[in-house]
Amino acid sequence: MSQTPHSVIIRGRGLKRYYRRGIETVKALDGVDIDIHTGEMVSIVGPSGSGKTTLVNLLSCLDAPSAGELSLDGKLLAGLAEDRLAGVRRGLLGFIFQKFHLIPTLTVAENVELPLMFLNRPTDRKATLAVLTSVGLASRADHRPKELSGGEMQRVAVARALITNPKVMIADEPTGNLDKATGEAIFSLLHSLVKNQGLTVIITTHNLALAYQADRIITIEDGRIVKEERGER
Ligand SMILES: Nc1ncnc2c1ncn2[C@@H]1O[C@H](COP(=O)(O)OP(=O)(O)O)[C@@H](O)[C@H]1O
Ligand SMILES: [Mg+2]
Repeated sequence: MSQTPHSVIIRGRGLKRYYRRGIETVKALDGVDIDIHTGEMVSIVGPSGSGKTTLVNLLSCLDAPSAGELSLDGKLLAGLAEDRLAGVRRGLLGFIFQKFHLIPTLTVAENVELPLMFLNRPTDRKATLAVLTSVGLASRADHRPKELSGGEMQRVAVARALITNPKVMIADEPTGNLDKATGEAIFSLLHSLVKNQGLTVIITTHNLALAYQADRIITIEDGRIVKEERGER
């Protein structure tokens, strides 16, 4: 890790997520302890079906654990009502997914501003352009998604995640739909946001060469952490 000490911004203890599949129980996550520190970039790797998405969905509060405890920014989430939970997540977390989920009828700038509308916050075109500039897309503000390449669409998704000024960006296979060079560019973009803006990034990826450019690499297999390593960042 480049700087110490870092405060823990996400803490999970004994996290489990079991699914029922007919009479069978799928142990998608089976007892994970994890600390994410402010300002670090953490890669989560492991074979397909090992529980990466399940883990990041729990860390994102998009899903609730079957057992275990999760704290965000020092606040224990257990027992929080839905609106309080949304309050804790709001402003703290941003998300990027493998699919870009852009709205085709909106312009790039409007897509980026969408989370603000959902949060009932005012939009400010200058701020939107600043975020688009940070992902290298200032000149595309008035374009529609279909006029963009895959890498550009993912950059819009990164900008859309940044517009609320989150402390933590959670990215589930953000390079999965991109060719190698474009995936590397998206990873570099996230890397630079960590380095220059102090963002915290959690990224799942199949690309080990990219994964090892993070501060820390966590390998999961069968719903458990089997390895934790220092990366090259
Ligand atoms: N909604 C669900 N219902 C039942 N099983 C699921 C569900 N989501 C994931 N799983 C199972 O949980 C395991 C972990 O899945 P996932 O977290 O998506 O893995 P990864 O992201 O590493 O590919 C897999 O065996 C998967 O089939
Ligand atoms: Mg997955």
